[in-house]
Amino acid sequence: MKYSTPKETAYQKNFLEIEVDHYDLRRREFLRAMEIFPPNMRKKITDKTIVLRDLDLCINSICSLNCPHCVFLQPHIKNVRNFDAEMIVEEMDRLLGANVYVTSLAILGGEPLLHPNIVEIIDRVAAMKHIGHAARVVVITNGTVVPDKSFCESIKGLPNGSVIVNDFPLSDKVDEITALFQSNGVKHRVANKDWTNHGSISELHGYSDTELKHLHFVCEAVSMLRDGLFSNCGRSVVAYQEGFIPYDAADFVDIRNFQASSEELNKRLYDHLYRHKWNTSCKYCRGNYEGNEVLPMGG
Ligand SMILES: C[S@@+](CC[C@H](N)C(=O)[O-])C[C@H]1O[C@@H](n2cnc3c(N)ncnc32)[C@H](O)[C@@H]1O
Ligand code: SF4
Repeated sequence: MKYSTPKETAYQKNFLEIEVDHYDLRRREFLRAMEIFPPNMRKKITDKTIVLRDLDLCINSICSLNCPHCVFLQPHIKNVRNFDAEMIVEEMDRLLGANVYVTSLAILGGEPLLHPNIVEIIDRVAAMKHIGHAARVVVITNGTVVPDKSFCESIKGLPNGSVIVNDFPLSDKVDEITALFQSNGVKHRVANKDWTNHGSISELHGYSDTELKHLHFVCEAVSMLRDGLFSNCGRSVVAYQEGFIPYDAADFVDIRNFQASSEELNKRLYDHLYRHKWNTSCKYCRGNYEGNEVLPMGG
């Protein structure tokens, strides 16, 4: 079912309470989520519920490739590492515990198949109740690493689990990986779509406040949880954690160090997602939206 306007939904009253300035941003996220939210979960939604249509869970910053225009700045990262599996699971649980539902979770990196605990992470995260039974869980890989049988079993065991195998010019194992998935019944697809040129992370564009607000509004950036930090934009988290841009508390929600209750965390997430007008990283970004310059993938 398609919802073209909130007036057509039973949730209209929730929107009326939202300040006009941010009405569109929240409505956009909410309506997209509703398109794929199963009816049993729709019922649980209140005006406090945060529905993330997409969430990127970044599990490492180690990669087998170094694509120059990588949205997550991989070639520039000095201190590459696998993030701690126990912390990843604990922090996902804390995030979802703040009345957050996710309809599509992407597990990525770096190259996620290089994380030694990827199977444990998938199994534990996908079982969380605000994800399980409803959401798509997809692992995104660059087609250079052949996973083992336990990985195949784990994805196959999920109600809606799959793998995106990117076919970049340097993805030398795509055939081997897809043959493995076919023989093990793992849902997958090979992707080769154009990339966006986000620009250089060291170039300030000199946008006015109005331009920044507009850029943030039209940008299709996806929220990310990475090494304890949440943001409405994955590139923003990477850029700050890897030392390319300064910290601004409004740009992030520090899940790892958040001391207050899950109700307080919900309010903090709500402010960041729906009241924050732009991130520091936007000042260094060309944005991810239709109309921006495209690049060949993997380049
Ligand atoms: C950063 S990668 C990490 C996972 C894995 N290493 C891979 O490349 O498939 C996650 C996704 O971002 C996409 N991506 C990377 N840089 C991009 C860009 N500049 N524009 C659009 N998508 C990009 C990749 O194609 C991939 O689907
Ligand atoms: S796009 Fe993927 S494969 Fe390429 S450098 Fe970035 S993380 Fe690595």
